[in-house]
Amino acid sequence: MAATRNVMRAVRVFEFGGPEVLKLQSDVLVPVPKENQVLIKVHACGVNPVETYIRSGTYARKPALPYTPGSDVAGVIESVGEHVTAFKKGDRVFTLETLSGGYAEYAVAAANRVYPLSDKLDFRQGAAIGVPYFTAYRALFQKGCAKAGESVLVHGASGGVGLAACQIARACGLKVLGTAGTEEGMNMILRNGAHHAFNHRDPNYTEKIKACTGPGGVNIIIEMLSNVNLDTDLQLLSCAGRVMVVGCRGRIEINPRDTMSRESSIVGVSLLLATEEERHECATAVLDGIEAGWLKPVVGLEYPLEKVAKAHEDIICSSGARGKMVLLV
Ligand SMILES: NC(=O)c1ccc[n+]([C@@H]2O[C@H](COP(=O)([O-])OP(=O)(O)OC[C@H]3O[C@@H](n4cnc5c(N)ncnc54)[C@H](OP(=O)(O)O)[C@@H]3O)[C@@H](O)[C@H]2O)c1
Repeated sequence: MAATRNVMRAVRVFEFGGPEVLKLQSDVLVPVPKENQVLIKVHACGVNPVETYIRSGTYARKPALPYTPGSDVAGVIESVGEHVTAFKKGDRVFTLETLSGGYAEYAVAAANRVYPLSDKLDFRQGAAIGVPYFTAYRALFQKGCAKAGESVLVHGASGGVGLAACQIARACGLKVLGTAGTEEGMNMILRNGAHHAFNHRDPNYTEKIKACTGPGGVNIIIEMLSNVNLDTDLQLLSCAGRVMVVGCRGRIEINPRDTMSRESSIVGVSLLLATEEERHECATAVLDGIEAGWLKPVVGLEYPLEKVAKAHEDIICSSGARGKMVLLV
């Protein structure tokens, strides 16, 4: 089941550090899929902020060196392990996770982390599905217990997870409020399911959110930058409201009393902790959304593999997200 070529271009990390430790190499061995694995010819790979934290060596989870980053690939099945029946050579697919790393021309993935890619979507959009949409679904429903008729504030809605959350929440009957840091990001949110958009760089934006929700507050907040917003979020919630901590880059002081007056909750979200059954639930919802036509990943900045270091710089020091960042392979 060997691939057509034995070596490939792939990004390798030999030491933890800044973006400069991402090295594009042209003589990396093409991995061979084991019995329950598939080999994918990668066309595009999503860039997730967590890949920059892991690369820096400051994240709790550290892969063995050297390694290739990247979990959200979209491409075509090149070969399959002997026990794989769900896929065959030539199938278009996207992944939630890879075993060998997605910033590469080929990647091996466990067959149960691979999903068919609809003809409705191109490979760049396929690379924008896995982590963002599964996380958004998990935050809204598996952890946030969202119900139709409730309101949700997607705090940081212009990036990969945020736009996914706006699309899913709107399709499931929630009232959707979203924030972005630019006018363009706000317009993008409004085109992707939000009823109302706010600029989180506007000093008065939380007052505007309060005016929009009224004294009842918002039922759920999907929070992308908890270290900045958690204290304020607690003031925006309804009774029994809940903040879903999806993104966090540091510490913040809060007053726990703010949760008492509303019996509100702060809930951490980790896609990594999803069970097999929960992942299956996410996948079913996502594949149904694609089929129905409301789930349309929005691709933002695109970089060739050669520019991977620049991609890692830009996703952290962003001047304004406009959808999911992807690497083109
Ligand atoms: N818990 C999990 O399992 C999980 C899974 C996936 C991702 N995450 C985390 O979730 C976060 C978002 O991921 P992503 O892939 O969507 O990243 P992304 O595409 O880079 O988007 C980042 C988002 O954060 C927004 N933002 C910037 N400043 C903000 C502020 N002051 N308040 C609120 N939002 C602000 C950005 O808006 P502008 O650029 O328009 O200012 C943008 O919408 C990251 O921290 C990531 O590590 C966690």
